[in-house]
Amino acid sequence: MRRRARLLWLGGTSGALLAALVAPWAAGAPWPAMALGLGMGLAVGWLADRIAAREVDRAEGALADVRAEARRRAAELRAGESRLRAVLDAMVEAVFVTDATGVIVTANPALARIAGRAPEGRTPIEVIRHPALAEAVEAALRGRSQRVELDVDDRHWVAHVAPLPEGEGALAVLHDVTEMRLAERVRRDFVANASHELRTPLAAIRGYAETLRDGALADAEAARSFVERIVRHALRLQSLVDDLLALSRAESPDWAPRLEPVDVGATARTVVDELRDRAAEHGVRLSVEIEAPEGPRAQADATSLEHVLTNLVDNAIRHTRPGTHVRVRARTDAGAVLVEVADDGPGIPERHLPRIFERFYRVDPGRSRQVGGTGLGLSIVRHLVQRMGGSVSVDSQIGTGTTFTIRLRAADEGERPSA
Ligand SMILES: Nc1ncnc2c1ncn2[C@@H]1O[C@H](COP(=O)(O)OP(=O)(O)OP(=O)(O)O)[C@@H](O)[C@H]1O
Ligand SMILES: [Mg+2]
Repeated sequence: MRRRARLLWLGGTSGALLAALVAPWAAGAPWPAMALGLGMGLAVGWLADRIAAREVDRAEGALADVRAEARRRAAELRAGESRLRAVLDAMVEAVFVTDATGVIVTANPALARIAGRAPEGRTPIEVIRHPALAEAVEAALRGRSQRVELDVDDRHWVAHVAPLPEGEGALAVLHDVTEMRLAERVRRDFVANASHELRTPLAAIRGYAETLRDGALADAEAARSFVERIVRHALRLQSLVDDLLALSRAESPDWAPRLEPVDVGATARTVVDELRDRAAEHGVRLSVEIEAPEGPRAQADATSLEHVLTNLVDNAIRHTRPGTHVRVRARTDAGAVLVEVADDGPGIPERHLPRIFERFYRVDPGRSRQVGGTGLGLSIVRHLVQRMGGSVSVDSQIGTGTTFTIRLRAADEGERPSA
């Protein structure tokens, strides 16, 4: 630009000079007049040059401003676009945009994960095989927003589909609500199950109390037997409520286990000593096998670990036959402490194994209820172990026995200073 300005200046100067020399001569003027003409010509030329240079500078400045503005706008657009891309990439919801013909032109990774391959260039029905979504997209292309619910391959989706401005296409946002719906169902089932479990002993207590009121009190023998039954059902109610409270506490975010090094061997011996009499009543033998005299130390909450082992040993006493041997074993394994409660009882049929940690799940509901079970014990076990950062698993074979294994972090591992 500067070079062009200089050329213009030179052009302007030489042009004015020539004009100043030639014009008086051509008009036949005398030399003084020609000199005056020359002087004026030079002055005009100089002025014209200054004006031209200033114009060029001004034009140059304006052009630079336009360029800077264009650069700024382009950078803003790029930043906006990459911000939008980042938002779309981070969204758990699946998002796609179609053109006016209903073909997907933009999609985020969440949709690509569902589709299995790039959704761009395909129609919504090719990506998610549900006619309701395709219909919603068509409605959006005609200017109407839609909300549809879709069941696809065990997943439940809520899709919001809206038109883009000026009929350019449609925008769809798909929200996976499978877990939410499952949680709602579990909660509903839980309330129904809990109410049912509470109703049975309550109804019995009421029945016996009414019978006593209506005359059975006069018969001392019958009265004693009814009162005994009332006490038994009240105890059942109490254990049910205790289990419900224990479960709700284990699940509550307001409660946290107090993790500290716990001597697993000592805890196992305490639990077994507590249950020895009951085991003897059922004809079940209990023993504790710890690999080292002081026992491995786990990073655990002492009370919770005791609760867990009590539930497991109690199960092994109640859900087996007389003559069963129950062993509580503890050992370390690659930075973890494993505690096993193993029995040589009747075992659990394989098809029940994936479900026995569910609330209220019992292999044989009638029999379990007879022995005072609510089906909450193992779900409490699982929650407590998980809250302590561990895991629990079961291995069972019909006729051979059942082994529950708890894996907890070893305390020594936890105490080691981090690198
Ligand atoms: N060691 C075992 N041997 C055979 N079956 C078992 C054993 N432990 C658990 N079960 C089965 O798993 C079911 C679920 O156990 P869980 O402890 O959750 O409930 P429960 O013992 O019936 O009741 P609760 O523990 O609430 O009093 C039991 O009903 C029983 O059928
Ligand atoms: Mg139990």
